[in-house]
Amino acid sequence: MTRFTDKTAFVTGAASGIGRATAQKLASEGATVVGADIDEAGLAEAAAEIGTNFHPLAVNITSRDECHKAISETVASHGGLDILANVAGVARSEHVADVTEDQWRLMFGVNVDGMFWLSQAAIPHLIESSGNIVNIASNAGLMGQAYCVNYCATKGAVVNLTKAMAMEFMKTPMRINAVAPGGTDTSLVQNYALPDDIDFKLLMRYTSDRGMSDPSDLANVICFVASDDARSMHGAIISADNGITSG
Ligand SMILES: NC(=O)c1ccc[n+]([C@@H]2O[C@H](COP(=O)([O-])OP(=O)(O)OC[C@H]3O[C@@H](n4cnc5c(N)ncnc54)[C@H](O)[C@@H]3O)[C@@H](O)[C@H]2O)c1
Repeated sequence: MTRFTDKTAFVTGAASGIGRATAQKLASEGATVVGADIDEAGLAEAAAEIGTNFHPLAVNITSRDECHKAISETVASHGGLDILANVAGVARSEHVADVTEDQWRLMFGVNVDGMFWLSQAAIPHLIESSGNIVNIASNAGLMGQAYCVNYCATKGAVVNLTKAMAMEFMKTPMRINAVAPGGTDTSLVQNYALPDDIDFKLLMRYTSDRGMSDPSDLANVICFVASDDARSMHGAIISADNGITSG
């Protein structure tokens, strides 16, 4: 027996980075994993890498209907749901004055709306299975960061969405927690372009002397939180940021 034998997990962002590493670890410990993402090519690569325990599902999580349909299909195909890992996210750096309405809404759509609609659809099934939700926040949800107002606002929302849901479902057997990574070596960071005319001194405060994490480091933390080893955790925001928010 391994930690996730006979468990079904739904992981968003499974095509890349932290989501793919999380899907890989859950599957390697016995879970049946439905890996959701908008990137179908990345999902195909993940499926080839992870094997038969991984079921790719193309979903645009900004759509409430697609989120609800994805959870219904998962429950119908696999007989229930034990873990929802809301990992998908987008990030962008800009001066406040340059944030457009489309960009603002897209970032909330992926980072917050998707997490909420999937949770809304999954909660009845997770209560039934005594399962749990792990939301991915960020150190950017726990501190203000320059040139990052849109992303910080979404990740602050993830933190308080997690706590609000933890309160509402306090008397159920389901757990809801969030993991808040710091810099992690994924395509999100590799494609993170800073705008012109910025004060680099301000950015030093959000850079760890301990360097970046590997996606597998975050998968280890997410899987711990999702496992029965963390059964006393509910409504927690667990930092895994190499000390960025420690002082
Ligand atoms: N990498 C970091 O330094 C870092 C730090 C803190 C928090 N995070 C958070 O970790 C999470 C995972 O990010 P990552 O670093 O692995 O990035 P990543 O870019 O490697 O993966 C993000 C995934 O989300 C998917 N996605 C984007 N829009 C989507 C949509 N509309 N519907 C479905 N899927 C969609 C992408 O296709 C991609 O596969 C994000 O929530 C991110 O904000 C990352």
